Amino acid sequence: MRKPLVAGNWKMHGSRAMVAELLDALITDLSDGFDTSEIAVFPPSLYLSQVRDALTDSPVVWGVQNICSKDGLSGAYTGELSAGMAADFSCTYVLVGHSERRAMYGDTDSVVAAKFALIANQGLVPVLCVGETLKEREQNETSTVVSRQISAVLDSVDGSLLKNGYVIAYEPIWAIGTGVTATSQQAQEVHAEIRKLIEKHSSDMAARTRILYGGSVKASNAMDILGQSDVDGALVGGASLKAEEFLAISRAAG
Ligand code: 13P
Repeated sequence: MRKPLVAGNWKMHGSRAMVAELLDALITDLSDGFDTSEIAVFPPSLYLSQVRDALTDSPVVWGVQNICSKDGLSGAYTGELSAGMAADFSCTYVLVGHSERRAMYGDTDSVVAAKFALIANQGLVPVLCVGETLKEREQNETSTVVSRQISAVLDSVDGSLLKNGYVIAYEPIWAIGTGVTATSQQAQEVHAEIRKLIEKHSSDMAARTRILYGGSVKASNAMDILGQSDVDGALVGGASLKAEEFLAISRAAG
């Protein structure tokens, strides 16, 4: 049985005051022992220490949005942070291959594969983000694009690194930050294809891997999308910055 995961990608949003307020609201609300879905937050890395201090001993886990592709530990890479540093701050997950990084920061399939391996090598769980543009969907290329993005990683990674598993987040680019979500049928269709693709590598992994949907998920549409059999949670952007919205999505998943 896959426990749903609802993850908040804060992107480049926040301040110390906002982080304190948001985490306090989450912890207070979850103090009734809610545990039917796992909840994770991905703050900008500068706030990791604050997040770790606030969430240790809470049911909420945390991760970073990106790591360096060159070295898992340390080196002369100005401005970067390593997978080892994320582990040092007790991260559970690391996002990799988000479409914003693919589009704006040169995260090609091979860079994404390198980062994925470095994350897994630190015992952390990579959350591999994939998804097609609107043009690709209109040209019926969704399956090709998503398969290419996933195969680039799974075909190259050393299987022995995957003991802690991985998570896939299907985020159609046309649904990110636009207010337009994929329909629950569109999401289910792609998620089922992704699971079949994973099955080619390992049926055990296919059964246990959580496939999240991301793209304009809100409290008002969460139930519909999260009700699909191959949708195992959500990667939430904008709505994860509002405690009430994010909690409502987490409860819809559980
Ligand atoms: P929105 O929920 O703001 O559309 O962002 C989705 C996303 O990119 C999460 O990684």
